[in-house]
Amino acid sequence: MDNRNRERLTRDGIRLHEPRDFDGMHKAGRLAAEILDAVAPMVSAGQNTGALDEAIRTLIDDAGAVSATIGYKGYKHASCISVNHVVCHGIPSSRKILKNGDILNIDVTVIVDGWHGDSSRMYSAGKISRRAERLIQVTHDALMQAIEAVRPGNTFGDVGHAVQSYVERHRMSVVREFCGHGLGRVFHAPPNVLHYGSPGSREKLEEGMFFTIEPMVNLGRPETKILPDHWTAVTRDRSLSAQFEHAVGVTENGCEVFTLSPAGMFHPTRN
Ligand code: MF3
Ligand code: CO
Ligand code: CO
Repeated sequence: MDNRNRERLTRDGIRLHEPRDFDGMHKAGRLAAEILDAVAPMVSAGQNTGALDEAIRTLIDDAGAVSATIGYKGYKHASCISVNHVVCHGIPSSRKILKNGDILNIDVTVIVDGWHGDSSRMYSAGKISRRAERLIQVTHDALMQAIEAVRPGNTFGDVGHAVQSYVERHRMSVVREFCGHGLGRVFHAPPNVLHYGSPGSREKLEEGMFFTIEPMVNLGRPETKILPDHWTAVTRDRSLSAQFEHAVGVTENGCEVFTLSPAGMFHPTRN
């Protein structure tokens, strides 16, 4: 029997990976995190997002890895860079010049030995407002609350509830139109990992599941719209939006976070 025949799926079509698969995800996740670490010093007022993307592309090449986003549904870039009221899927451009006080999310997905490393985090250009800082803090902490809920026996509803309850307690809103996803040898696999929900609802978490948690949080209302470029998602009310993304694997007692920053730089203002 070849390996393919031994691959296990749940009734919901969620792949259950083997212990050795964690090593592949760890390597891919670490490269994504290293790249997000490496671009941090380049983010400043006057810089353009096209140049950041070029740097990311080079870092991926130099590592001998492959960008998962170039060519994905016609997308042409090695990252998504989403500034201020852009919720996600911002298209890097030499014409998009960062200014003092901007906040931005950089999202990178790499493929290493066939495994996907997908992570994003927030950066800032110059001095940002108190409100922007709070938004970034709450979004980061909401992701960490969700990760705390990842263990066998809990459900994806528990994960979504952890995000939603934390965010709404801080009077901010959770975007509904985009979600996390299973990943592994595939970029976007089942399940949809919603960032809202009720405790105990949805699929049960099982050891060997790999997925992302990537909440998008708005200072204003949750609604988004897509710009005519068919990619850029923005808040309808033009309020500021933030996002953090980690890829995790469910272990016997909890989870392993594959995309931890080797330099401890995941949170932008805490170091
Ligand atoms: N990395 C994004 C995610 O977290 C997906 C980007 S797809 C792209 O799932 F085509 F917009 F790059
Ligand atoms: Co993702
Ligand atoms: Co991503």
